[in-house]
Amino acid sequence: MANVPVVTLNNGVEIPQLGFGTFQIDPDDTADAVATALDVGYRHIDTAQMYGNERGVGEAIARSGLDRDEVFVTSKLNNSFHAYDDALKAFDRTLADLGTDRLDLFLIHWPMPEVGDFVQTWRALEEVYGSGRSRAIGVSNFQPAHLRRILESAETVPAVNQIEAHPYLTQDTVRAYDAEHGIVTEAWSPIAQGAVLQDPVITRIAERLDRTPAQVTLRWHIQRGDVVFPKSSSRSRMEENFALFDFGLSADDMSAISARNRDHRVGPDPDTFNVTG
Ligand SMILES: NC(=O)c1ccc[n+]([C@@H]2O[C@H](COP(=O)([O-])OP(=O)(O)OC[C@H]3O[C@@H](n4cnc5c(N)ncnc54)[C@H](OP(=O)(O)O)[C@@H]3O)[C@@H](O)[C@H]2O)c1
Repeated sequence: MANVPVVTLNNGVEIPQLGFGTFQIDPDDTADAVATALDVGYRHIDTAQMYGNERGVGEAIARSGLDRDEVFVTSKLNNSFHAYDDALKAFDRTLADLGTDRLDLFLIHWPMPEVGDFVQTWRALEEVYGSGRSRAIGVSNFQPAHLRRILESAETVPAVNQIEAHPYLTQDTVRAYDAEHGIVTEAWSPIAQGAVLQDPVITRIAERLDRTPAQVTLRWHIQRGDVVFPKSSSRSRMEENFALFDFGLSADDMSAISARNRDHRVGPDPDTFNVTG
């Protein structure tokens, strides 16, 4: 199996730095897609209640024959369940849908600052963590102002903050805040859903290293120290995205890619995204 590095979270739990994302994989196709990813070698799967495909993830893990402990599974609380009791019930449903009695990481998917009270939601996640039913808890799409509110009353510091990040959105401020507080940054849409793959700086580096633009971009994330989980529905691209550990980017390559930043989002802005359901 490829030697995927692990990142140690603030409670000592280890997470594989490279995983497989499942956003926009049809629920009917998820079991096969995740089974293929596990066969390729991925041992970290990122799903969410919102994706509607947790059952498929659970089915693939069950039929892989792998021990449950060998696969790191993350899911996320849907936006409509921010109230304390709703969050606890929704977590139970996630465990049932995944067919497991324990999650590795559970996240608040979006802060929804104008709708939910994410501080009470965080208390529900702390309850889940305290009961041992998730090995770690964290947040997603939290800006420093949102994290500050959580940290004012939290007993448990979030283990991760999963945010949109790629060469066109380097997220220097949020990543620095995360690092300062011992929170690991996870980068979603790591190749900007394909938008960075024609970038002239990235394609030039890829040609020189005889790698693909996706591999160069994902390697840039790995060397920054973030956790990534690119999504693909094709086995060959899953393999391509997994082959990141037999080459490296120089300091000059790293800065040239970082300099492509234009603060461009491919997904919603966490300060204004307040959609439930
Ligand atoms: N927390 C959040 O709010 C949030 C939001 C979005 C995503 N996420 C998580 O992050 C994961 C990754 O983000 P994402 O799925 O939005 O975007 P992504 O991984 O940046 O890009 C996926 C897209 O790129 C294509 N692709 C993948 N590998 C490729 C390659 N080597 N060459 C060319 N094209 C390639 C895929 O097409 P094919 O499938 O056809 O290969 C798909 O269209 C998600 O699956 C999800 O788990 C979290």
